[in-house]
Amino acid sequence: MHFQGYFLATLVVLLGWLGTAAAAPSELVKRASLTQVQNFGNNPSGVKMFIYVPAKLQAKPPIVLVLHACQWTASRFFGTTKYGQLADQHGFIAIYGQTPTDGACWDVSSTQSLTHDGGSDSTGLANMVRYTLQKYNGDASRVFVTGESSGAMMTQVMSAVYPDMFAAASEFSGEPAGCFYTGTVRGWNSQCANGQVSKSPAEWASTVRAMYPGYSGQYPRMQVYHGDVDNILNINSFNESVKEWSGIFGYSGKPTAALNNNPGPRLTKYIYGDRLQGIWGHGFGHVVPTNETEALTWFGVL
Ligand SMILES: *[C@@H]1O[C@H](CO)[C@@H](O)[C@H](O)[C@H]1NC(C)=O
Ligand SMILES: *[C@@H]1O[C@H](CO)[C@@H](O)[C@H](O)[C@H]1NC(C)=O
Repeated sequence: MHFQGYFLATLVVLLGWLGTAAAAPSELVKRASLTQVQNFGNNPSGVKMFIYVPAKLQAKPPIVLVLHACQWTASRFFGTTKYGQLADQHGFIAIYGQTPTDGACWDVSSTQSLTHDGGSDSTGLANMVRYTLQKYNGDASRVFVTGESSGAMMTQVMSAVYPDMFAAASEFSGEPAGCFYTGTVRGWNSQCANGQVSKSPAEWASTVRAMYPGYSGQYPRMQVYHGDVDNILNINSFNESVKEWSGIFGYSGKPTAALNNNPGPRLTKYIYGDRLQGIWGHGFGHVVPTNETEALTWFGVL
């Protein structure tokens, strides 16, 4: 009897405690989830839009467009990157784009995708941003793009094709915008991948400017990562990317500073000017992994 009474009393206390414990966290952390958005505007190639809108948004939230690699999906990349939890803490919106068929590469090779509002993936991605700006009262002066590998190539393409949309970009192991041109949708340019495409800064700058003829405004600040033992996208692409954006910004292409172990171990950060950084990975293959806090710091969101 005594034992039973004690047991019941304990149970009542325990249940009471569980009740309070269950109520508290839901007030502290109301986690949003990655949600697909249909009908976000003109979407000629059928790219897919997934969005993460945190419970606590800034009044005019910044927007970060995040682009996966070939063979990846939005939800898988969302799962391995920290933009969701950082959005919870800092009140920005993350858009995870996804290629029209699961696991495909981004179209960084067709004339359509390499032209401002010219069609294919770049047009669809731009319309995800426009939709989000409107629906959530986004800050049009704080829109950013980042990605890995094919998503890194697309990061440079979006920066070249929509320079008016993005304030800054951070790409992890990609290629200069236009380097992968084949004239076909989702083509593979082995010359570029093998590091056999070399242009002067002026030639790269005119390649970029041809993607949005008549545009005379500023181009996004650019941060480029590449590993020195990358055998998928040749290491020459680092210098070619640096030449491309140096050409756009009018920089000499020679670094004005080299910071060792920056932003992290085995990385050297070269500064070419206020708008361009190249980060060289010592002993990194394909890819140098995303550093979310460094990207968001470069964007000015953190
Ligand atoms: C990149 O350019 C620098 C000089 O600007 C040179 O020292 C380096 O060897 C080049 N890297 C590659 C991979 O060609
Ligand atoms: C990522 O960048 C931050 C600084 O923005 C740095 O503290 C951290 O060490 C970096 N992480 C890696 C793995 O390089």
